[in-house]
Amino acid sequence: MSNILKVSQLTKVFNPTTLPIEAVKEVDLEVDEGKIIVITGRSGSGKSTLLHLLAGLEQKTSGTILFKDSNYDELTSSQITELRRTEMGFVYQFHYLLNEMTAIENVSLPLLLNNFDRETAIRLSREILNSLGLSHRYSHKPSELSGGEKQRVAIARSMVHSPSLVILDEPTGDLDSATSKEVIDSLNNYVKDKKASLLIATHDENFTKISDQNLIIDSGII
Ligand SMILES: Nc1ncnc2c1ncn2[C@@H]1O[C@H](COP(=O)(O)OP(=O)(O)OP(=O)(O)O)[C@@H](O)[C@H]1O
Ligand SMILES: [Mg+2]
Repeated sequence: MSNILKVSQLTKVFNPTTLPIEAVKEVDLEVDEGKIIVITGRSGSGKSTLLHLLAGLEQKTSGTILFKDSNYDELTSSQITELRRTEMGFVYQFHYLLNEMTAIENVSLPLLLNNFDRETAIRLSREILNSLGLSHRYSHKPSELSGGEKQRVAIARSMVHSPSLVILDEPTGDLDSATSKEVIDSLNNYVKDKKASLLIATHDENFTKISDQNLIIDSGII
C-alpha cells in the first residue's frame, strides 16, 4: 500500500513571541492511498489548523510533511500551490464559494485551472452536482442557496478534478441528518471509485461508519 501523506511531529505555534498558542502539537499521521481518516477533537483543539498545514495553506513551526514522498521543506511556495491545484481538494469550514459565480461555475473552476476545456468542465461539474443532489441548482449563486446546498457545492468543487487527496473541514456541519448521510455515501463512493484518500475533521458521528482510521487531537490553548 503506498503512502500518500506522511506527517511527523508536526507542530504549529501561533504568536510565538507574544502570546504563544500551540495550536497543533507533535502530530504523527500516515495516510495510505484510498483510505478515509477522520479527525476529531473538541473545539479549539487544532483540527482546522492541522488541515491548513497539510494543504500548505499555513506555515508549520516544526516537524515534517511528505506528500507522495515530496518534502514540503524542499518545495517552493509555487510548487506547493501547483501540488494543491492538481493533487488536492479542500473544503473549508466556511465553504468560501465565489459569490459572483453560479454553482456550476464555482464547481468548474478547478477544472478550468487545470486546463480542461469548457465543455468537459461543464459536463463533469454537472455529473458531480447531480451525484450530490443538486441538479436543480446549477445556475444559482451562493446567496440563493441554503447553507447545506452551499456546503455540497463546495464538496463538489473539491472533488471535480479527481484529486488524490480531499481535505474536508466539517463538511456536514450545515446539513440535516438525512442529507449528511447522503453526502457521506457520496464521499465513500468517490474514494472507492478514484482510490483517493480523504481527511475529514468532523464532530459528525455518522463518519465513523466509513472511517478507516481515527485521529483524536487535543492541543490548543485551554
Ligand atoms: N490565525 C490564528 N492566530 C492565532 N491563533 C489562532 C489562529 N488560528 C487558530 N488559532 C488558535 O488555535 C487553536 C486551534 O484552532 P482551530 O481553528 O485549529 O481549532 P478547531 O479544532 O478547528 O476548532 P473548531 O472545532 O471550533 O473548528 C485555537 O485556540 C485558536 O484560537
Ligand atoms: Mg475548525
